[in-house]
Amino acid sequence: MRAVARTRGSTLRLPAVATVSGPEDHPGHAVAWAADFAAGTEVRLRILRELALPEARPPRADEVWLWLGMPALPSGLTDWPSNLPWLSDQEASRTRRFHFAHDRWSHSTAHAALRILMSELLDCPPRDVRLSSTSKGKPVLCRAMHPAATCRAVHFNISHTRGMVAVALSGSPVGVDVEPVRALPDMRQLVTDLMAPEALAAFDNTASEAQKMNLFFRYWTLGEAFIKATGQGLDQGLDSFAFTPCGTARLTKVTPGWGDPGRWHMGFSAASANRTEEK
Ligand code: COA
Ligand code: MG
Repeated sequence: MRAVARTRGSTLRLPAVATVSGPEDHPGHAVAWAADFAAGTEVRLRILRELALPEARPPRADEVWLWLGMPALPSGLTDWPSNLPWLSDQEASRTRRFHFAHDRWSHSTAHAALRILMSELLDCPPRDVRLSSTSKGKPVLCRAMHPAATCRAVHFNISHTRGMVAVALSGSPVGVDVEPVRALPDMRQLVTDLMAPEALAAFDNTASEAQKMNLFFRYWTLGEAFIKATGQGLDQGLDSFAFTPCGTARLTKVTPGWGDPGRWHMGFSAASANRTEEK
């Protein structure tokens, strides 16, 4: 409990961040998560109302805990140096390498938020959380430094983009992605070049430019969340899977080797959708 109190107190020391509780709170951004659960599992998604664990225990295998943060005020973007004390030296130096204050803010905030949540689980100061990464770049807990059972049981992922950051914790492999929804001049070409034929067909069947933009970012964020949940990153061909174009987000196809598509659960929300869809 001491760790919880310490972490709760520490949220007050991330002054640049406002916790986002639902899609209506993040106009202009798309959010997606994906996790590898047994098919048929009833997934429990919990949007964290503050930067602290909702329970004094790790998330269970059927749970996803998602924290979303935005700059509290546009002027808060220049507060990014207040995130540095939470970070490892390597993370701090990567933050400083970004040219723009918003990128420094989002990179440092995502890493600080992850450390604050993980410190609560591990009962250690945030800077003592030791991370390493798989050969494909997926961050994981360092097995040499933390209890093996915790390393096996706790899965996490982060995403940082201009104006929004996300941290996902789960008892199952999880990925998360956030993106600003914006018009891109070459959207159809990107879908053609990168995504599955099913995605292109859905894109071409969508009438208005606004709907095309939303569909594009639905596929984009779900795709990133999925390849981050599998841990394969871009090595997993982006045309090797497809999702439902509307309604409940789920995989409609995935190349053999990833098992039953039904074992993957996911959610997507964007301000225009005005709700979070689960499973
Ligand atoms: N699996 C899971 N997580 C990974 C990962 C992997 N293989 N590789 C990196 N990550 C994590 C890291 O924590 C990274 O943050 P860090 O570098 O600050 O530690 C974080 O994901 C970055 O995610 P995000 O903020 O969403 O950045 P991104 O959108 O630029 O990168 C990746 C996403 C990881 C998938 C990357 O491979 C990439 O460069 N993608 C390019 C965009 C693209 O083509 N997307 C496909 C859309 S369908
Ligand atoms: Mg991303």
